Amino acid sequence: MADTLNWHEVAKTSDLAPGEVMYVEVGNDPVALINLDGEFFALHDMCTHQDASLSDGEIIGDEIECPMHGGAFEVRTGLPANFPVVVPVETFAVKTEGDAVFVAKRPA
Ligand code: FES
Repeated sequence: MADTLNWHEVAKTSDLAPGEVMYVEVGNDPVALINLDGEFFALHDMCTHQDASLSDGEIIGDEIECPMHGGAFEVRTGLPANFPVVVPVETFAVKTEGDAVFVAKRPA
């Protein structure tokens, strides 16, 4: 199947060490780009609980903890991992080519 996603080059693999998160933009979407043990994942940057930026949060194990209220999401799936988060956060597609990291919004 052809790759029809609209990929955006957002970072170099060397920009982000394992266990780190950084803010990037994919089109008009704010995105938290995460290096989880050398594998890259991308979540919408806005916490689904209130108005907090997940890229200001912390990677703990395979979860990202929101900087407010201690809510958390699973990095791989965007599913809620800790109260008060109850709504999943949007996940974005990620690929690397050489040392470039690309992120794309998934089709609705
Ligand atoms: S804003 Fe993220 S847990 Fe409340």
